[in-house]
Amino acid sequence: MAVTPIVISGLVFRRGGRAVLDGLTASIAATGITAIVGPNGAGKSVTLRILDGLLQPDAGEVRFGRGAGADVRRALVFQRPALIRASVEANVALGLAAAGSGLGRAARRERIAAALHRVGLGDRARDPARKLSGGEQQRLALARALVGGPDLLLLDEPTANLDPGATEAIEELVRGEAAAGTKVILVSHNLGQVARLADDLLVLDRGRAVEHGPAQAVLQAPRTAEARAYLKGELPWTAFAAA
Ligand SMILES: Nc1ncnc2c1ncn2[C@@H]1O[C@H](COP(=O)(O)OP(=O)(O)O)[C@@H](O)[C@H]1O
Ligand SMILES: [Mg+2]
Repeated sequence: MAVTPIVISGLVFRRGGRAVLDGLTASIAATGITAIVGPNGAGKSVTLRILDGLLQPDAGEVRFGRGAGADVRRALVFQRPALIRASVEANVALGLAAAGSGLGRAARRERIAAALHRVGLGDRARDPARKLSGGEQQRLALARALVGGPDLLLLDEPTANLDPGATEAIEELVRGEAAAGTKVILVSHNLGQVARLADDLLVLDRGRAVEHGPAQAVLQAPRTAEARAYLKGELPWTAFAAA
């Protein structure tokens, strides 16, 4: 697809008598890494699922440039990698099922090998996925997301369960993917990670966008009370005191 801005207009998503998304509006640049932060229950995961096409909003819309996004290849990575009880390469093959249906057997194998190599699991293809460490499993989930060549990579707290070393490996991969032209939208509570990776930062609160701007500016000088309250709760005290 041609890289186009993502325009989110007035999204409403109701469940159990309440509005999980309550008129969410935001314009997201076509390139780079956009981070989304906000308190638990703010609607971050629902927003990613709507962007992925897994959920339909009750009102509002998402537009990709002038289109509805049918031609936008998307991939979503969750906090806990949902792996099948099979080999590492079989898990990556799942990511090709939709995207790579026109490929021959040899081309598919090549793509799978390239994706595994990319995430540093080139020599683990035949291992059972469950034998991998937590960090390796998340890199496998990333390989499965990348193997189809997504235009839009959606990451929902992808390092929430990982140690600093494994987190750094994921961050490096995400940075490289964005540099190669994939649009990345990252939900994270790790504000250090947001500062390291994000170009822009969108703060959600109770199903609405309360602040959106260059990541460093929002982190250092949030303009709204809601953003300040969230950031203050997440930042180490000293970092906030210095800001
Ligand atoms: N499919 C669904 N059905 C019912 N409730 C949902 C559904 N998806 C999300 N919710 C509820 O919506 C709220 C916000 O969800 P979520 O997007 O997961 O928040 P966040 O990711 O910001 O923590 C939560 O209280 C959750 O229980
Ligand atoms: Mg969530």
